Amino acid sequence: MAQDQRDQPRSVARTSAVVAATERLAASCTDRLGRPLNVLDLGGGTGGVAVPLAVSGHRVTVVDPSPNALAALGERARAAGVSARVRGVQGDGDSLEAVLSGETFDLVCCHGTLEFVDDPAATLQATAAALEPGGVLSLIVSGRLAVVFAKAIAGEFAQAKAAIVDAEGRWGPHDPLPRRFDLDRLTELLTTAGFTIEQARGAGILSHLVPASRIDSAADRAALDELDDLLVSGPGREVLGTLGSALHVIARRD
Ligand SMILES: C[S@@+](CC[C@H](N)C(=O)[O-])C[C@H]1O[C@@H](n2cnc3c(N)ncnc32)[C@H](O)[C@@H]1O
Repeated sequence: MAQDQRDQPRSVARTSAVVAATERLAASCTDRLGRPLNVLDLGGGTGGVAVPLAVSGHRVTVVDPSPNALAALGERARAAGVSARVRGVQGDGDSLEAVLSGETFDLVCCHGTLEFVDDPAATLQATAAALEPGGVLSLIVSGRLAVVFAKAIAGEFAQAKAAIVDAEGRWGPHDPLPRRFDLDRLTELLTTAGFTIEQARGAGILSHLVPASRIDSAADRAALDELDDLLVSGPGREVLGTLGSALHVIARRD
């Protein structure tokens, strides 16, 4: 494997898995409703999920505070021939109600975004308000325990401890993430906001821990990804999901 591929962040390496999981979810919602979906991608960035959904026939609104990301989203949508079904709106999770002015959606994706908003509880409440009753939320957040293991294995014991005891799951003042989540906290936030959790799954347990220098080929990467999927898919192994570097929750608005 080329060095630049080895150096890719793990989140990029797993993006195709996220797109595939989101497309499966959208397909099941489409089956239920009998029509293409109206989708909101909160913090959808450059459209890595939004554009494939639009290619599948759905209408997607991306709300993101970054003008650069929205410009790249527009380019990506044009290149894929789906500009008519992709709308970029500058805004953020903390001002969702004002930005959407009452529009509602069948599916909301919030992937890698809840870590950055000012108030996750308020954002999830605004997300629930933006969903049709029975609408579905696909929520992906960074897991706290994964970073505890990664820091301990790297010999960074003080940072590992900080990530356990810090209220926001941060390993220190230089941690680039404002917060990480445990499944318990996510469950409480989602339930309070009026969601019922249908599926909660950790992803990226081992791939987050194995040093990039040990991954020599695309076959190695595929084998590691397969191990990660197997780890969380067998009976009795659900608890391992709490160690995922990403926690993926699918929840329905009550
Ligand atoms: C880690 S990226 C994730 C992008 C995309 N959802 C994905 O999974 O590839 C985080 C995104 O959240 C956006 N963001 C940052 N703060 C935000 C906020 N308060 N509300 C909504 N989006 C925000 C960033 O501009 C960026 O596009």
